[in-house]
Amino acid sequence: MTYMRIAVYPGSFDPITNGHLDIIERASRVFDKVIVGVLRNKNKSPEFTAEQRVGLIKKVTAHLENVETESFDGLLVDFARAHGAKVIVKGLRTVNDFEYEFQMALLNRALDNECETMFMMTDSKYSYISSSMIKELAGYKGNLEGLVPSEIIQYIKDKYEQ
Ligand code: PNS
Repeated sequence: MTYMRIAVYPGSFDPITNGHLDIIERASRVFDKVIVGVLRNKNKSPEFTAEQRVGLIKKVTAHLENVETESFDGLLVDFARAHGAKVIVKGLRTVNDFEYEFQMALLNRALDNECETMFMMTDSKYSYISSSMIKELAGYKGNLEGLVPSEIIQYIKDKYEQ
């Protein structure tokens, strides 16, 4: 039997940024398969619907053959287990991310002790980018070049011009 190393890269991706895409590309070189898990966010109210967020990610990862994207509800460890993934990949931008991510990693391992969280350091050129910052910038009609993948810039701008 061939053993596939499958990883889940979870997030809200509201919307996907160049920082997220960098982690997806790098993870796709480390794992046999990467499943991008888009949280449907029942409690938060995302700017983009889960379908829109999945669509944007699929568009910008079309060149990556071993990357799949789907939305999920419920616990991340259940989503990972359902896909045969034993690894959760997370990106770390600054030390500010660390405390929360450390707590989540411990919690997820307590929920499923076969599930490992592995962190990838965000490329320094993306360390200041966040989806919230993209939304704020888009709201002020700021330049999104270099911050989100170029093929989705117009889509994001259109959303804020409605
Ligand atoms: O991009 P985000 O919003 O920082 O991603 C957060 C995410 C999706 C990774 C996190 O909210 C999550 O794993 N949610 C699923 C529910 C879950 O498993 N929570 C942990 C136990 S309460």
